[in-house]
Amino acid sequence: MEPAVAKPPLESESDTNLSPERRAWAGRNLDAAARALLAEDERYFLKQSVSTPCLNAIVKAEGIFIEDTAGRRYMDFHGNNVHHIGYGHPRLKRAIVEQMDALPFTPRRYTAGPAVALAKKLSSIAPVRNGKVLFTTGGSDAVEVAIKIARVATGRYKTLSFWDAFHGAGFGSAAVGGEALFRSGSIGPLMPGAEHVAPFSSYRCPYGTASGEESGKACARMIDYVLGREGDVAAFIAEPIRAVPFIPPAGFWKEVRTICDRHGTLLIFDEIPAGLGKTGKMFACEHDGVAPDIVVVGKALGGGILPIAAAIAREGLDVGADFAFGHYTHEKNPVTARAALTTIEIIEQEGLVANAAKVGAFALKGLAELKMKHPLVGDVRGRGLVIGIELVTDRASKTPASKQAEIVMYRALERGLSFKTTFGNVLTWTPPLTVTEADMARAIGILDESLSGV
Ligand SMILES: Cc1ncc(COP(=O)(O)O)c(C=O)c1O
Repeated sequence: MEPAVAKPPLESESDTNLSPERRAWAGRNLDAAARALLAEDERYFLKQSVSTPCLNAIVKAEGIFIEDTAGRRYMDFHGNNVHHIGYGHPRLKRAIVEQMDALPFTPRRYTAGPAVALAKKLSSIAPVRNGKVLFTTGGSDAVEVAIKIARVATGRYKTLSFWDAFHGAGFGSAAVGGEALFRSGSIGPLMPGAEHVAPFSSYRCPYGTASGEESGKACARMIDYVLGREGDVAAFIAEPIRAVPFIPPAGFWKEVRTICDRHGTLLIFDEIPAGLGKTGKMFACEHDGVAPDIVVVGKALGGGILPIAAAIAREGLDVGADFAFGHYTHEKNPVTARAALTTIEIIEQEGLVANAAKVGAFALKGLAELKMKHPLVGDVRGRGLVIGIELVTDRASKTPASKQAEIVMYRALERGLSFKTTFGNVLTWTPPLTVTEADMARAIGILDESLSGV
């Protein structure tokens, strides 16, 4: 409910992350405690695009909900993709406490049960043959470990990846990423040899095609062309399902797999946000029946409590004996390893992958109905619980409705639903795997109200 009397908008030293829509929302919704904390946050944190200054202050994260200082609860349909098992899963919290009591840390050069057990588990579920692992603290580092493995295994240093992709904030991962925010201007120079192709897209194909299938074919042709022209690319790295999201057309990854093999290029799948069940299969690439050479997981691996990521390489890629690819301080931390192992067990034992598929299908059906009702909705797409609702001012020209998307986002927030927008006009929903059809129906209802009259 919108309060009758609006408070003045937040004052800020700069306009970073502060559009008029956001200022208006903040003016209506932030209580004194949130304002005080946000001011302190801004005082002590360096500003950066997208995340700082922050939107609001929260005091609780539980199940699918986050709660702000004013006691308002929001269904968190973003959660940075860490909250697959819901926030604060009691079994995970218990396992972490038990592990802290039993063995809180493993110094380098020593091993311990939890790290070995996690390595064994990941090897058994990953879509690579007889996989071996390295653990890192964050996804960006794990992506860079994967690139190093590919360099040493192939004796080549170049990479190919998609424009518009995000693979992390490190110099190496930002180099293979394709977003200006992370790679352009005075941030560079980045890792040399990082080349890019335009990605496939069923709705806005950079190759100018009219269907997802044609887009996939054009994109695969370009990958083949570039790998052939260069002749010495170590790895092609991509998310199997583009985060926007865009679903790969049938046969696309099989074609790319064949192309990579032909050119002696390894295929690395970044499954950091979409792996571990989010798409309705344990790994997103299982939908495409394609095995990468190296797969990278992270985010939800730590159960939404602790940071841990992993690069898992197929047999034949244990090539680092003379190097240190991932000599990270917390590489074999027993507490993060135990958290990851318990998280995977929860995902498996609570049937969360199947639930993601079921509720995802339910969502797509409901959202397709919303599309018929609201001309602002140009496209609805998704796989499992990776869902995109693209807003356009005109369906024929597909003109992005970015301003409207922001308005809809803040209206939804006021009604208890939190999500983010991608590329300005794609409402991106990535709820936890524990979300129910009732939660989803409520979210669709909120979106329906939020779209009305915009
Ligand atoms: C596809 C993808 N790769 C890599 C990363 C980087 O992970 P981290 O933030 O843990 O370094 C992210 C994070 O958002 C991601 O979405």
